[in-house]
Amino acid sequence: MSHSIPKEAPEQASQQRSQRRPRHFLTLLDFTPAELVQLIDRASAMKREHYAGTEQRPFHGKVLAMIFEKSSTRTRVSFEAGMAQLGGHAMFLSPESTQLGRGEPVEDSARIVSSMVDIVMIRTYGHDIAERFAAHSSVPVINALTDDFHPCQLLADMQTYAEHRGSIAGRSVCWVGDGNNMCHSYINAARQFDFELRIACPQGFEPNAELVAANRDRVHVTHEPAAAAEGADLVVTDVWASMGQEQEQAERAAAFADFQVNAELMSRAAPDALYMHCLPAHRGEEISAQLMDAPDTVIWEEAENRLHAQKALIETLLLAAG
Ligand code: CP
Ligand code: NVA
Repeated sequence: MSHSIPKEAPEQASQQRSQRRPRHFLTLLDFTPAELVQLIDRASAMKREHYAGTEQRPFHGKVLAMIFEKSSTRTRVSFEAGMAQLGGHAMFLSPESTQLGRGEPVEDSARIVSSMVDIVMIRTYGHDIAERFAAHSSVPVINALTDDFHPCQLLADMQTYAEHRGSIAGRSVCWVGDGNNMCHSYINAARQFDFELRIACPQGFEPNAELVAANRDRVHVTHEPAAAAEGADLVVTDVWASMGQEQEQAERAAAFADFQVNAELMSRAAPDALYMHCLPAHRGEEISAQLMDAPDTVIWEEAENRLHAQKALIETLLLAAG
């Protein structure tokens, strides 16, 4: 039996790999504005190829590790299906089924997991956990939601806007609700995709003050949803209590009662304004059932675009990794 002789000894290759500084996607700021626009275009092209049945499967044998410390429907299905459609394999890892849940340090886990796979996706609590994982990973790491940011959702939202209305540059976007991880990623998106962002949230639920201050040329925080929605091209909302805040649900429901995205609020936005929601949604809370179930809503397409946008993201990161 003959084996091809590797160019370098396996131990050398392994060492080189562990010393690599791969490119990560932890927030939208990890890519330049031009790269993000290119990525969105590529996502739409891959979507067309997927529908046409002309899709390539360039990543045969590549493995994506998916670490989920929080629940998920869209993120898990889109990453797993996307990796299969690219010709690769995705592996689901949860704290309950791995040593992460028994206290193995995230740094050790990162070294081990990344020595065996080609790319990693992590959904966790503190953003620092994703950063620590990335710092010790020899392969690209994608943030699939932390308490602070949800950049993958923004790729899908920006793709959806571009597909329906063209470039979002110079447009105005209104965020209604909690100053949470999605809101923070919208602040980053305002900078990277060049739009104005008006945030309407209840007192005490504002987004991170430093992030707002760093983007004060284009981000404005108010407590008046009606004023914030005036003339907006896109209105976006999210749940009032995020994962990990379930025990605050009742208190938040009272504080957010006047922050529902509904037909009345949309009547203040631009006539052709879109509205979005990352989902899962609570009909009758942050968004009316009427808007959720409207036949022309783009919300379902927004969710589907997670698949296409993340395939473009995986492709970009794997090609960069060589
Ligand atoms: N929008 C989103 O990330 O959904 P999941 O929590 O279902 O993944
Ligand atoms: N803000 C929500 C987003 C869910 C996709 C959460 O963190 O639970």
